[in-house]
Amino acid sequence: MPRKTRITLISTGGTIAGLGQVGHSTGYTAGAVDAQTLLDAIPGVHGLASLRIVPLFSIGSQDFTETHSMLLRQAVMDALNDRQTDAVLVTHGTDTLEETAFFLHLTVPVQSKPVLLTAAMRPASAASADGSGNLRDALHALRSLCASRPVKTPNIWVLMANRLYGAIETSKRNALAPDAFHNQRHCAFLLDEHLEWISAPVEGAWPAGRFASVLDKAMVNWASGKGASQDDFDGLLPEVPVFVCHQDINPKRVAAMLKPVPRGWVIAGVGHGAVPAMLHPLVNKLLQQGCWIMRASRTPEGPVFVSGENPWNQSSFEGRMLASGRLTPWQSRIALQLSLLESDIAA
Ligand code: SIN
Repeated sequence: MPRKTRITLISTGGTIAGLGQVGHSTGYTAGAVDAQTLLDAIPGVHGLASLRIVPLFSIGSQDFTETHSMLLRQAVMDALNDRQTDAVLVTHGTDTLEETAFFLHLTVPVQSKPVLLTAAMRPASAASADGSGNLRDALHALRSLCASRPVKTPNIWVLMANRLYGAIETSKRNALAPDAFHNQRHCAFLLDEHLEWISAPVEGAWPAGRFASVLDKAMVNWASGKGASQDDFDGLLPEVPVFVCHQDINPKRVAAMLKPVPRGWVIAGVGHGAVPAMLHPLVNKLLQQGCWIMRASRTPEGPVFVSGENPWNQSSFEGRMLASGRLTPWQSRIALQLSLLESDIAA
């Protein structure tokens, strides 16, 4: 008989572990149910995989800080280094899952074991709870990924409502529906117990593990600067705020929010990343002051290229005006933070 896939499940909270009034989908507490209870509710789960649970956090993903991301990265890497683990499953809230998945994609060293994040849109106590189905599907997907190893495992994966996404394809697009991440760029569909592949994950300028060693070096510097305390990482990455454009912006208000001038700024422009003219003087001033700016878009689909809707000359300001490509504004923030950290380490 083939050996069961050995999966380490790291739980962080979210609606998948949410508990409220029985039968209701709203008004619940995120992260209130432990992972073992969630697993025990899935018929036949123990025949599917041999599971080890690491209860890491019990929070809603809106409360994630840099410290949570760093501790989760460490827990994922510890599990990957464990010879008794074939694959890693992370349960997480949906609201900021695209940020965590992208952070792990960029900072976990490339290896041959799959890491998959899953979540739910309805709390465990709701009549139409989707968490147990997603968890069961996640176990099947991990078994499938392990069976095809190493060909299909360069990456961090997200599974939600039968669809498997690469980290860069992941973005929350619906505030209420169970298939909240649905877009046309998913990589595979879980049909019954198997992954039906559609396309490879997109990586472009952001390949898996690109900042793994940079972050390791920064953590060593951070720990030596902080003495013994190694579980507070807030401030390790440069601050990069995000601003979402709209009509009738008050540039003075925006300028006040950017004091002191941050190392980087993400502007979620309109359409193809267009920045309203009323912000141009502020953008010029920030670029002159050394701030790096990444133009993204508040529109969910379609990449933002350097050349489109960009009145800034690329050769001026030492190339500090960037474009987000396929990243969401929130993923752009992480990409810029890690890029700035990389240039600090290289300096
Ligand atoms: C959260 O992101 O933690 C809450 C919402 C959800 O999981 O759907």
